[in-house]
Order: sequence, then structure tokens, then C-alpha cells
Amino acid sequence: MIGPHPAPPSPGPIAASVSRLLSAPAEHGPGLAAHLAHFGPLPAPGDAGLIDPVTRAGLRGRGGAGFPTGRKIASVSAQLTGRRPTVVANGCEGEPISGKDHVLLELAPHLVFDGALAVAAALGAEEVLLCVHRGDPIVPSVRAAAAERAHDGRPVRVVEVPGRYAASEESALVNFVNTGTARPTAKPPRPFERGIDGRPTLIANVETLAHVALIARYGPDWFRSVGTADSPGTTLVTVGGGVAFPGVLEVALGTPLGTILELSGGPAEPVQALLVGGLGGGWLPFRRALDVRLDHAELRAAGAALGVAAILAVPAWVCGVTETARIATYLAGESARQCGPCMFGLPAVAGDLWALHDPREDPRTILRRLMRRLGLLPGRGACGHPDGFTRFVRGALDAFADDFRDHADGRPCPGSGHPWLSLPAAGDPTPAGWQ
Ligand SMILES: Cc1cc2nc3c(=O)[nH]c(=O)nc-3n(C[C@H](O)[C@H](O)[C@H](O)COP(=O)(O)O)c2cc1C
Ligand code: SF4
Repeated sequence: MIGPHPAPPSPGPIAASVSRLLSAPAEHGPGLAAHLAHFGPLPAPGDAGLIDPVTRAGLRGRGGAGFPTGRKIASVSAQLTGRRPTVVANGCEGEPISGKDHVLLELAPHLVFDGALAVAAALGAEEVLLCVHRGDPIVPSVRAAAAERAHDGRPVRVVEVPGRYAASEESALVNFVNTGTARPTAKPPRPFERGIDGRPTLIANVETLAHVALIARYGPDWFRSVGTADSPGTTLVTVGGGVAFPGVLEVALGTPLGTILELSGGPAEPVQALLVGGLGGGWLPFRRALDVRLDHAELRAAGAALGVAAILAVPAWVCGVTETARIATYLAGESARQCGPCMFGLPAVAGDLWALHDPREDPRTILRRLMRRLGLLPGRGACGHPDGFTRFVRGALDAFADDFRDHADGRPCPGSGHPWLSLPAAGDPTPAGWQ
């Protein structure tokens, strides 16, 4: 270990809310000097290197799929036959109901750079790229933080990517840097095989890399000292919708969803359902959701997904059918429209959801058609977008079963037709919208 090292951040009095990533005092600012004063310098890797401690920590990616990070770094390492790889930190946060990556980049950008640079050093990578959405207000501060790392041994480059939902999928980032078009590409090859400039490329979410920086400092046992066996450590959670204090929290994985809502001030109005994981996550009926813990296996068993750990509390007055139709329309419009399910299936399902508002057709016929179409979507796209879309719509049919039944019986609820969630404006569907 190089230089004196401050003690690791320890759990606070509320076990559920644990400050690790967000433990630095905000009043000292996000600069490199304050970062080093709080966390100490990044230690030189010990004999075990980086892959072994990250694997033993059980860290899983925080960008949506929850893939084991140690295994991902090892896959890139296994591809190195004389070619130097590239490391990409994915800070786009294309998920509209998530704000955690922005908060992290604003408050602790150097933890992200520490993690990316540690992985780059372990792999012998040529450079580190940080991808963010073009024109995002965060751009000037991350550029300033990147400039502070100019003497860290390898170039750190900030790349501004078009602000589209599917443009921050990993193959889309590679495609954008290589060709200037941010559409996902068919796999194989996956980025770890052939990515930026044809090199093996490690792409990880910015929060994942910030955890790597802490594991490099404090070790895998410290990392696993909170969380569950399946999902160790802490995670940043974005809580929104009908709670008293919407915002971003850091909690131990395994914390029950009800406790997370309490940490956000509790419901500010009666709540009927939670959307957990992001728009590609899944819906849970409110009563059934409270005891479910924030853990990959538990959420999957309950019919949702941990995803990007965004939790949206949907007030009771909101019409589940209208809201599902609105979000499905947004997701269909944000696809890259280059694979069959996205070109035909997603818009058709969104159309079926809107048709449930329209008494010209028997709603049961519409629901049967919708279910048939949903069955044709998963696993058929070049990226996971149709799978997330399907999980989202299927979960809605369960969580808003009463609203769907009322629509099917020709008795739409009072909230029907009233928009609730504010969604980004539709992106430009022409090729120019992806450049
Ligand atoms: C449609 C789509 C959009 C995505 N957007 C993001 C994003 O904005 N940020 C992110 O970190 N990962 C995003 N991902 C996941 C990335 O493809 C990739 O798996 C992730 O960056 C890897 O990081 P992790 O292993 O640390 O989770 C998206 C995936 C899909 C299918
Ligand atoms: S599945 Fe959809 S979003 Fe993914 S690459 Fe194909 S068209 Fe694009």
C-alpha cells in the first residue's frame, strides 16, 4: 500500500443506510485533493492483483444486468494476445427514472476514475474512456475531474454520446466511438472480444467501477461485510414518485424495499405499486413489495429485477393501463429500430395498450393479442431492450390487474388517460438521431 491510509468507512447507525461511495464530506467538494484526503491514494495491487479480490468480493455490475465484475475483467484479460485493451466507464445513465450515476459523478468522480484506472492498470489498457450523454449538465465537471487525472499514467477521455435510451448499451458505445453511430450491434463479437478500435474492451457502469476502487483499498471481506450472499455490498438507489423525499440513497443490498421507502420519508400519498430496477425492471404490487429485499435473486423470484436499483412509487390514483401504455410507447420509440422485435413488436404492443382505452374492439381480444405478441419478443434482439420491455409490460399486467380488468369490463378507472410520470421527449428516429 502506498502512503498513509484513512480507516475504511464503517456502517452508520442505521444498518440499512450505509455510506461508502457517498461517505466523503460534501462540503469539501469533489476535487482530487479532497478525495485523496478522505479515501487515501489507490494502493498498488498486492500479489493477488485486482481480478482475484474483485471476484472474491462478489461484486456484480450496477449498470442493469448484475453480471459478476471479476468474471468480466477476467474475460477481457483472457483475450489479450499482444493487443492492449480499452476500459470504458458507462456514465450515460440512459434510464429516465434513475439518477444515481449522476449523483456519483457529481459527488465522487475520482472514485469512478480510481476504479477505471485500477482496472486499466491490471489489464495494461491503453486508455480510459468515460461515456456521458451529450450536453448533460454533468459534462463540465467530469471533464474537470478527468483533467485532474492527466498524470495518472494513461489518458482519460470523456466521450459525449447521443442521449438515447439504447445508445448507452455497451455495443452501441463501442459502435459510436468506432463509427460515430450509437446503435447497438449484433453479438458476437461482444466488446470484450472486439471493441474500441478492435481491441478487447471492458465496459462497466460508473458505480461498479467506484466499488472496484473501494475493494482495491479495503479488500473483499470488508466489501462483503454488508449485503447478502447473492448480492454483497452497498448500492446506490434512486427513489422517486409518491414518496416524501425523492432522491438517491446508498443502502446495503438486502435492505427491504419497505425500509428504503421509509428512508425516503415514506409514501406521501397512497401507493398502489412499485416499479423496481428501472423501466426495464419490473412492477410489484405495493403490499407484496414491502418485505421483498433489494437482492438479485429475491427480486427475480418476486417478478422484478434489481436492474439499476431505481424504485418508483406509483400513487393509487394513477391508471396502470395508461401509464404502462405511455412508458411502452416511450421505450418503443427509443429502440434503434433495426431488429424485428423493436421494429414491429414493441410498437404493436404499445398500440394494444392504447387500444384498451378505445371501446371499438373487445378488450379481451386485445389482451389475448398483446400476450401473444409479448411471447415473441424476448431473446430476439441484438441487445436486451426487447427483454426489458417484455418484463416491464408483463409485470404491469400483474401489478395493475384491477385496472386492466376494469378496462376489459369497459369501466376505465378515474385516472385513465391522465399522464403521470414525466418522460424525456421522444428522440429523433432518423439516423441523425444516433450520431
Ligand atoms: C437498452 C440498454 C440501455 C443501457 N443503458 C445503460 C446505461 O445507460 N448505463 C449503463 O451503465 N449500462 C447500460 N446498459 C447496460 C450496458 O449494456 C452494460 O451491460 C453495462 O454498462 C455494463 O456495466 P456493469 O457490468 O458494470 O453493469 C444498457 C443496456 C441496454 C440493453
Ligand atoms: S434489439 Fe432493439 S434496441 Fe436492441 S439493437 Fe435491436 S433494434 Fe436496437
